[in-house]
Amino acid sequence: MLKRCGRRLLLALAGALLACLLVLTADPPPPPVPAERGRRALRSLAGPSGAAPAPGLEAAAAPGVLVREVHSLSEYFSLLTRSRRDAGPPPGSVPRPADGHPRPPAEPLTPHDVFIAVKTTKKFHRARLDLLLETWISRHKEMTYIFTDGEDEALARRTGNVVNTNCSAAHSRQALSCKMAVEYDRFVESGRKWFCHVDDDNYVNVRALLKLLASYPHTQDIYLGKPSLDRPIQATERVSESKVRPVHFWFATGGAGFCISRGLALKMSPWASGGHFMSTAERIRLPDDCTIGYIVEALLGVPLIRSGLFHSHLENLQQVPTSELHEQVTLSYGMFENKRNAVHIKGPFSVEADPSRFRSIHCHLYPDTPWCPHTAIF
Ligand SMILES: *[C@@H]1O[C@H](CO)[C@@H](O)[C@H](O)[C@H]1NC(C)=O
Repeated sequence: MLKRCGRRLLLALAGALLACLLVLTADPPPPPVPAERGRRALRSLAGPSGAAPAPGLEAAAAPGVLVREVHSLSEYFSLLTRSRRDAGPPPGSVPRPADGHPRPPAEPLTPHDVFIAVKTTKKFHRARLDLLLETWISRHKEMTYIFTDGEDEALARRTGNVVNTNCSAAHSRQALSCKMAVEYDRFVESGRKWFCHVDDDNYVNVRALLKLLASYPHTQDIYLGKPSLDRPIQATERVSESKVRPVHFWFATGGAGFCISRGLALKMSPWASGGHFMSTAERIRLPDDCTIGYIVEALLGVPLIRSGLFHSHLENLQQVPTSELHEQVTLSYGMFENKRNAVHIKGPFSVEADPSRFRSIHCHLYPDTPWCPHTAIF
């Protein structure tokens, strides 16, 4: 592909620029989606299943439209660079397995090296956060920071790591980006090696998370998570007051959790630090997790490493095998296709007593927990 483009480039310099432009700007096929255990991609936010397209989502632009968007030779070269990046990792970079399963350790990692941001809202402190504090967070208070939008003394008594973002409690694009901006800034200040973002309906299996992260050097550009779309998102990027252009990129769905190495996070700073995250999000008019993907993939050219070990409530959680629960990095619960969606695990608590299954999962992973039925220990 590249060779062909190179030859065509010479031809272009000889006067056939237009022909080459047509080849280069044709939408590249999306990278193959690896088979993932338990993975169930949503067709598309804008797919025929009836969901309304999110603001800023566009249908894939026809190649002809793209050709008109490429105005200068420099844009044309940046497209060439993009397709080279898409084609594979540059020489000398760490090999990246497509499914992001743990590989041999690259560096030792302790819980104190990881910053886990849990995004919540005051309305869910009792309904969702208490369950997390009782289960996975109870084991990992030093690495977990709760980002919310209202004061809560009961919550503050349970953990010192509560950040009131002062962002709006609305579930709007702006409010979500406002919280992500605070999470990013706090992570950078913390000096830790890894940033992980999860939602308040996620169970984090910290042992599996540490094992996964330890297999990548935190100084390199690492963006780990799971997309919920089966192809790159198509968006419109505002480049100036009067000019927009189509852009497409993969992003890790926030609802499954994702992680970013410190090396990469620092490179994101011009678009993510201070007030910049909010203005970057405005440039593409998409939610916080898409904005992260936009900065990492579209602006920095760093590809998302997909991992089948992250799970959001947008996939069928019944398909996560119980025998492999200890390997999963994040789990979730909620509704999917109008049905209650949770991991299938037998006992020790009934579905009525433990509808999210998080207590049962926690006892499965940490049988020495005092409130777990003691039969599980022996
Ligand atoms: C939110 O507001 C309070 C009170 O003004 C302030 O102390 C706190 O630092 C603010 N939080 C952030 C994240 O800016």
